[in-house]
Amino acid sequence: MLYISEIITESVSAAFSTCGYQDADVSVKISDRPDLCEYQCNSALPAAKKYSVNPMEIAEAVAGKLREEVIFEKVEALKPGFINMVMHPEFLKDHLKELAAESRLWAEGEKNPVKTVIDYGGANVAKPLHVGHLRSAVIGESLKRILRYAGNEVVADVHLGDWGLQMGLIIEQLREEQPGLPYFDENRTRPFPHEAPFTLEDLERMYPKASARSKEDEGFLKAAQETTLKLQEGYEPYREIWKHIMEISKKDLKRNYDALGVTFDLWKGESDAQPLIPDMIEDFKEQGIANLSQGALVIDVSEDGDTKEIPPCIIQKSDGAALYATSDLATIIDRKNELGAGDFVYVADKRQELHFTQVFRSARKAGLVEDSDRLEFIGFGTMNGKDGKPFKTRAGGVMRLEHLIEDIRSAVYDKITEGSDISGEELDDTTEKVALAALKYGDLSNQASRDYIFDIDRFTALEGNTGPYILYTAVRLKSILEKNTAAAGADVSRTDLGTPLTFKEKQLFLKAAQAPAALREAYEKRAPHVICRYVYELSDICNGFYHDTNILSESDEKLKCERLALITFIKDILVECLDLLGIEVPERM
Ligand code: ARG
Repeated sequence: MLYISEIITESVSAAFSTCGYQDADVSVKISDRPDLCEYQCNSALPAAKKYSVNPMEIAEAVAGKLREEVIFEKVEALKPGFINMVMHPEFLKDHLKELAAESRLWAEGEKNPVKTVIDYGGANVAKPLHVGHLRSAVIGESLKRILRYAGNEVVADVHLGDWGLQMGLIIEQLREEQPGLPYFDENRTRPFPHEAPFTLEDLERMYPKASARSKEDEGFLKAAQETTLKLQEGYEPYREIWKHIMEISKKDLKRNYDALGVTFDLWKGESDAQPLIPDMIEDFKEQGIANLSQGALVIDVSEDGDTKEIPPCIIQKSDGAALYATSDLATIIDRKNELGAGDFVYVADKRQELHFTQVFRSARKAGLVEDSDRLEFIGFGTMNGKDGKPFKTRAGGVMRLEHLIEDIRSAVYDKITEGSDISGEELDDTTEKVALAALKYGDLSNQASRDYIFDIDRFTALEGNTGPYILYTAVRLKSILEKNTAAAGADVSRTDLGTPLTFKEKQLFLKAAQAPAALREAYEKRAPHVICRYVYELSDICNGFYHDTNILSESDEKLKCERLALITFIKDILVECLDLLGIEVPERM
């Protein structure tokens, strides 16, 4: 079905044509003064220049034509050439009924035949999660849902950082602490243990310790680098330690992502691309795109028209070690081979932009992807504390996701237990859902590339542009509907909408009708914040309507049913949109 804005634009364009202005560029926008009109067209102004006539003459002729159309209640031409439109309530009713009859808001979607792989999460094994990883998980999860909703076939890959220096550091630290382990016995007289000789807590302690030491002790750093290289070359004892680290770490990471409601189809990592690297490098050399520069192998990726210098992409260091970019290039090959992907979406810190520019250009230059394939980098800004510096938890150290969620949970708990009769398991469930909504919405409501300030008080507030406010709106609607179902013995159908009667009701119809366009915009711009803005506006209008209108207490049965149908549809819209943000609505609040 056509969007409401498309229907209006078509009418207005046709009117311009009928009036003799076929070549006018016609666009229509939602009015920013809803008290004056609902839609607005300013195209008579540029058309006047084109046709050398007075803009008011065009505006009046077009407005006159539009008045003949049943979809408008009122059309006005205003100086210097604006056309203001108010929609007919009957049209709005019919249009919204049609939308309500669809099984989803953006019914047709995009139907992109290309397979998409989305790379987010990106936690580094055995290293603490930091706020950047939280953002990547929250934004990536939402984008995955939006891409799928639009009709794409999407594979989500966590792409763990499991192949870096942290492994060498931990192995060296282990050698310090438990030199007697068989891994360090050159003659290997004993078998390797089945059980890991360390726990998650050990790893959490060992990595920071080793990392700090490597910054002061050059010998230790060198040993860790050599050990990393040996691991990467496949030295069995180190591979065995690596496997244990992976197993313990992955389990913990899964737990963390689960707690966030973030899921992946693939739990691959940098290590999975390693076997592809030697052939890839050979191929680069044969193609003549990789050159030696000061002992390192690099691909020149500068292009004419670059406004700033894009340094070459380093593929191999002089000691033979592969780098972050090498892994990412080999991963593209893997994703082409294994998944047949044609659209590659990466969600990572915007400070990695140069890295991705280098990787994308190298991939194109080397022909790893088809010309028509899309390589997209969605870079996000930093989550700062109130002091404007990158966020730290209570203790001031690195962030532990659990602590962060715990802090939000307790802030939410205090708010929802105030004057509420929810208890027991339901209270836990509600607290959990509201806390995650506060966290996710606080993040997603900002344009991803911007830095933002993490403010628990603001994020958990029940009023304002917050997750809990949107949930509260949805829950309130649910509770009205449940009361009605209990009394009437049956649900109302959302398609039983009536004609909007009041200003606020009409505003609500209009906003509901804009849902498909908001979802399409969020998809096209890869921008969850567009959905946040939409649900906030919808919630605000809905609460205003609710405040002024009798619903359950309405004595006219037909009116009551129509209003309940409207509320049902608004609740469904909120739930459908929130799901795309990875936010669940609790039963009660
Ligand atoms: N592990 C990386 C980090 O912590 C993020 C990975 C992003 N994805 C990628 N394919 N490079 O910074």
